[in-house]
Amino acid sequence: MSLLIYNTGMLVQTREAGTAFVAGKDMAELPVIPNGWLLIEDGIIAGYGPPENMPSYGSHIQRMDAGGGFVFPSFCDSHTHLVYAGSREQEYTDKIRGLSYEEIARRGGGILNSAKLLHDTPEEELFNQSMERVREIISYGTGAVEIKSGYGLTTEDELKMLRVIRRIKTESPLTVKSTFLGAHAIPAEYQSNRKGYIDLVVNEMIPVIAGEHLADYIDVFCDRGFFSIEETGRILEAGARYGLRPKIHANELDFSGGIQTGVKHGALSVDHLEFTGDEEIASLLGSGTMPTLLPGAAFFLGMTDPPARTMIDAGLPLAMASDYNPGSSPSGNMKFVVSLGCIRLRLLPEEAINAVTVNSAYAMGLSGTHGSITTGKKANLFITRKIPSYEYVPYAYGSNIIDRVILNGDIC
Ligand code: NIG
Ligand code: FE
Repeated sequence: MSLLIYNTGMLVQTREAGTAFVAGKDMAELPVIPNGWLLIEDGIIAGYGPPENMPSYGSHIQRMDAGGGFVFPSFCDSHTHLVYAGSREQEYTDKIRGLSYEEIARRGGGILNSAKLLHDTPEEELFNQSMERVREIISYGTGAVEIKSGYGLTTEDELKMLRVIRRIKTESPLTVKSTFLGAHAIPAEYQSNRKGYIDLVVNEMIPVIAGEHLADYIDVFCDRGFFSIEETGRILEAGARYGLRPKIHANELDFSGGIQTGVKHGALSVDHLEFTGDEEIASLLGSGTMPTLLPGAAFFLGMTDPPARTMIDAGLPLAMASDYNPGSSPSGNMKFVVSLGCIRLRLLPEEAINAVTVNSAYAMGLSGTHGSITTGKKANLFITRKIPSYEYVPYAYGSNIIDRVILNGDIC
């Protein structure tokens, strides 16, 4: 089937094939084609260009009048925990009353609270709850999502989460990458036997999960109060033996050494990075590891923002993702992430849009197929209502400007 989109206000993020990511000064460049057209064939972008070059296609081609709306490549959300059970608004209220994220975690709240809820929720119900979030993020313009396990913390419950992620992969139109995060927290029954839990992750969980091809990547919450750099190293080495590349949580709570550990182990991305200084920046430069910021988490928890400007000015690339999870960022709204990038991290709109498309596609291993309007890439797009400029997208931070969503060439 072929579909021609015409009468657009602008095609945004149009690139030749071969751009893996953009870094430093290049992040401020966002290629666009005013009033462009775009042709989709069999779910793939087959061509695009300026209005004067629009070919005259015959009647067998379906046409879509964009009505002056802007066409964007779908957001790539490279870091989420959207498979979870229930919600944790009670802790949200505790935070308003003054308790910190770490205090809540120490009192058995936080990740352990979600692990208990997940344990008590049947797999079918967990799938149904997660699919509601999937449908929501599709309507908000996301076309590819990475989803982590990590609320199981037993072999059986981690497998349950990963099976739900696999089912989302097959039953939703999203492109999905799956990450094993057994080392998200030490479960209550191992509090006085940390090594015992890490042994379980290394000797039992990783082999079973890799054997069933249930994960694309491996993650560890490498931070103060969670997993040390030595523990992280051991888990990542075990993952590497099974071909699982790291994408890790690092430096959210302190200068924990997580960034350097991730780079050392060839991580595809290191994520959070609120605590990033000169040494961390030096280790990331030229590494191939994508620094990924999750501004929704620092915003929601009222915590420190990462030094995004310093990082870009030092020549680094940046990606941004939602961190959609019940504790630190209960939202998968990537358009709001773009606004937070501009408002809180002082990114230019061009930098923020690059961070949630081309760079976040790289951060989930999808830069060949997603993240830009490029001939040969997947036709995952959204069309806005008529808006005056692409800067309007982060500026109108509370408005839903998305009019139509197209995934795999199909109108959703
Ligand atoms: O990315 N930092 C670790 N994990 C999640 C939060 C998990 C939770 O509180 O449930 C995060 O912020
Ligand atoms: Fe996270």
